[in-house]
Amino acid sequence: HDTALQSHFDAVIDADGKIEPRDWMPDAYRKTLVRQISQHAHSEIVGMLPEGNWISRAPSLKRKAILVAKVQDEGGHGLYLYSAAETLGTSRDQMFDALHSGKAKYSSIFNYPTLTWADVGVIGWLVDGAAIMNQIPLCRCSYGPYARAMIRVCKEESFHQRQGFESLMSMMQGTAEQKAMVQDAVNRWWWKCLAMFGPPDADSPNSVQGMRWGIKRISNDDLRQKFVDATVPQAEVLGVTLPDPDLKWNEARGHHDYGHIDWDEFWSVVNGDGPCNKERLATRVKAWDDGAWVREAALAHARKQQERRMK
Ligand code: 3HC
Repeated sequence: HDTALQSHFDAVIDADGKIEPRDWMPDAYRKTLVRQISQHAHSEIVGMLPEGNWISRAPSLKRKAILVAKVQDEGGHGLYLYSAAETLGTSRDQMFDALHSGKAKYSSIFNYPTLTWADVGVIGWLVDGAAIMNQIPLCRCSYGPYARAMIRVCKEESFHQRQGFESLMSMMQGTAEQKAMVQDAVNRWWWKCLAMFGPPDADSPNSVQGMRWGIKRISNDDLRQKFVDATVPQAEVLGVTLPDPDLKWNEARGHHDYGHIDWDEFWSVVNGDGPCNKERLATRVKAWDDGAWVREAALAHARKQQERRMK
């Protein structure tokens, strides 16, 4: 019986079809999806913190309104993704527990501090730019609920990317100090953004199987290359330098070559030792604890309503 189910699953994957929550799927496929979707959800939620840091200090009402909307979108993406992961039989409480106990991973990029207002623009331009590059192929992922969630997420991410670029563009038309602030932010974020795509293909334990299952459509290194190639001309328009002396067009490859990424730093951040890991986790745990009364009140209200209905 199991072999028949497995062959049906394989046939759907081979035909580039969709697997839906009620379909049979191998345990390892389910596990990989829960891992990836929950990490993705946590990244959205923790990703609210670095930019949230600037909401109260945005330089104008317009910038504040944009930033509030953007950070709120990230919260929405997180909830969307938790819902997609729940369709695989994992509860939201289990996922929160994994995050709050420090067991779950979330994107390395959110463990760096946002030191100036230019960081907010650079996060939109480069961090969200990298996120879109990685997420567009996920719209074609073999698991239906994840693929469908990604469509809306990508539309909103592209607004985030544009607002970041536009904000930097206006700073680059400003004073020498403003221009220097943008360049400094680009210098601090560029390499971290390249690392966001994950380890090189040769050191990526999950890639081969993820590609076989149609979860990953484009490899870590290929996405990183696409991101570099797309970003170089944008940096020129903006008038900033990308901090990599080895970055240059390679005519033979038809791509830009780029320098060495510090993978030791990446793994140390992923393993909990980045500049802000402890602060980010503590902030999430505190928000969860402070919200306990809301959850209790909502449950008490739901119970009362149910009792009333039963009378
Ligand atoms: N940060 C933290 N951990 C990372 C990472 C990163 N940037 N890149 C890879 N890793 C982890 C993987 O999760 C994996 O750990 P695990 O086996 O314990 O789960 C390990 O490093 C090895 O990496 P692999 O390449 O083998 O893992 P994957 O095949 O899962 O590929 C991935 C990694 C490309 C990040 C993939 O999981 C993915 O596409 N995830 C969905 C997208 C996502 O999570 N994006 C995060 C950013 S979201 C965002 O930026 C929102 C913003 O707009 C606010």
